Amino acid sequence: MSTVTPLAASLDQRLRRAMAAVLPTGAADADPIVRPSDHADFQANGALALAKRLGTNPRELAARIATSVANDELIASCEVSGPGFLNVTLTDAAILNQVALRSGDARAGLRPGNPGRVTVVDYSQPNIAKEMHVGHLRSTIIGDALVRILEFDGSKVVRQNHLGDWGTQFGMLIQYLLEHTDDQAAPDRAESGSEAISRLNALYRTARSKFDSDSEFAERARARVVELQAGDATTLASWQRIVAESKVYFNEVYDRLGVLLDDADAVGESFYNPMLQDIAKDLETRGVAQRSDGALCVFFDGVNGPDGNPTPLIIQKSDGGFGYAATDLAAIRHRVGTLGASRLLYVVDSRQALHFRMVFETARRAGYLPDSVEAVHVSFGSVLGPDGRPFKTRAGDTVRLISLLDEALDRARITVQEKNQSLVGELLDQRAREVGIGAVKYADLSTGRARDYVFDIDRMVSLNGNTGVYLQYAHARIHSILRKASAADLAASIDTTGALEPAERRLAMLLDELAPAIVSVTDTLEPHRLCGYLYSLAQAFTDFYEACPVLRAPTDEVRANRVILCRLTGDTLKIGLALLGIEAPDEL
Ligand code: ARG
Repeated sequence: MSTVTPLAASLDQRLRRAMAAVLPTGAADADPIVRPSDHADFQANGALALAKRLGTNPRELAARIATSVANDELIASCEVSGPGFLNVTLTDAAILNQVALRSGDARAGLRPGNPGRVTVVDYSQPNIAKEMHVGHLRSTIIGDALVRILEFDGSKVVRQNHLGDWGTQFGMLIQYLLEHTDDQAAPDRAESGSEAISRLNALYRTARSKFDSDSEFAERARARVVELQAGDATTLASWQRIVAESKVYFNEVYDRLGVLLDDADAVGESFYNPMLQDIAKDLETRGVAQRSDGALCVFFDGVNGPDGNPTPLIIQKSDGGFGYAATDLAAIRHRVGTLGASRLLYVVDSRQALHFRMVFETARRAGYLPDSVEAVHVSFGSVLGPDGRPFKTRAGDTVRLISLLDEALDRARITVQEKNQSLVGELLDQRAREVGIGAVKYADLSTGRARDYVFDIDRMVSLNGNTGVYLQYAHARIHSILRKASAADLAASIDTTGALEPAERRLAMLLDELAPAIVSVTDTLEPHRLCGYLYSLAQAFTDFYEACPVLRAPTDEVRANRVILCRLTGDTLKIGLALLGIEAPDEL
């Protein structure tokens, strides 16, 4: 469905066209079925099915196609093998031409497809007055990469940070604050985000234990929830303060991570509160939801609890309160009806799979989610600690995100210093940030998102293996070559008459595969596919660099060609890393 189309058609597309043009009359619609091959550059298998259709011998048909296509400037050789496969090797000139067409273009020759499509991405979604945890980190990183990739693909993307900023817990927080103005309130001076969140965390704990142990306080806290819902000015003001203080902290984390989220994207659960009554009424009138023991519920075939009883989606509790599900239904109606979404993505951990299944199904039944709109739970696995269990501190608390990122920066600083001792001061800080944050993001994104992974900082900042640093280093190495290249080489255009060394050829062919790598992410919403591509590209570059001297190339033409190849590889790595939200400095 997705269509990041190469500005210059890719080599396999060109080959497909060349072959389609020589198919027997009456069979021009047949697919030549061109695939990359281990035996040649490509294999075309279309002759088999076509021969069956035409009632001819497949080997003979393949041989005829081979003869007719042999003169195409793309093709160096086209040979029949097996029952009627065609093994195709391209000319070096065709490959060099392709490099020429892409090089120097800010998008490496790719043009956006999918104009007019609106994708709403719900991600990050931390909860007010609580520390963000590693699950929120995953959602933020994966969501950010998907947003960048979908935008590159030409989709209009609306970011929605579905903050947990509403609910009964605010009753106890606000009540406690109002009763203890002295100890838990914000100080007069400006607080940092981390200070604010530590204070709010402590407030949460004290208020919670008072709520659990003091029934009169619990009563007052419940009454406070009613005041909040009724819009009482003092209560609202206190709520707003808590929300604002938490946002300072979230923004500090977003800033640290270098993600696109900003205040305008924060559309929390409270935003939907005024719509919930109507949602409940509407679902009941349409017969989608029914009263059961006083609660308004939606039931599903085959969704049962451990006791065998059906597990409903609860729209409204018997005490009249609305919860998480009602809010998500209102959000769907808003995103489809008002924001005009054609695709809804929810980057949320896999434990919420059932919730989203029931919410999507309910929205379909109610007509909030027409068939033309796709809704996907982009689910992901857990982040594990070194012991292979869900990531917690030794005391069993959630690990503070900021300290985790600080640690990644410290380790990255060591890696960077080992590579380049002359780096000091602010520049060293900046590199440590680019490498450390890049390492954390890449480790997350390069793991298939359904999988759990161990948060292992040493591995993340390692220069060996499939890491962000490895890719950043490959990019920086290319720039160090380019800095040494002469102005004449940098200005030269490609000479398409030369012959390519095998490693050079492999690199050039791989450069042509950025578009399919991106399309595979927009189709599957799995960023690790792009990571895998970039890693192979960096490896192919290493092989090329070992086998083919660049600045000491045998002739001026070969040297200029190799400089251009280096530059396009560097640009492709930079574009790919940028799509993952990772910096690619020119020097490490
Ligand atoms: N705030 C929730 C949590 O921390 C995640 C919200 C996910 N998004 C949504 N639209 N339900 O678990």
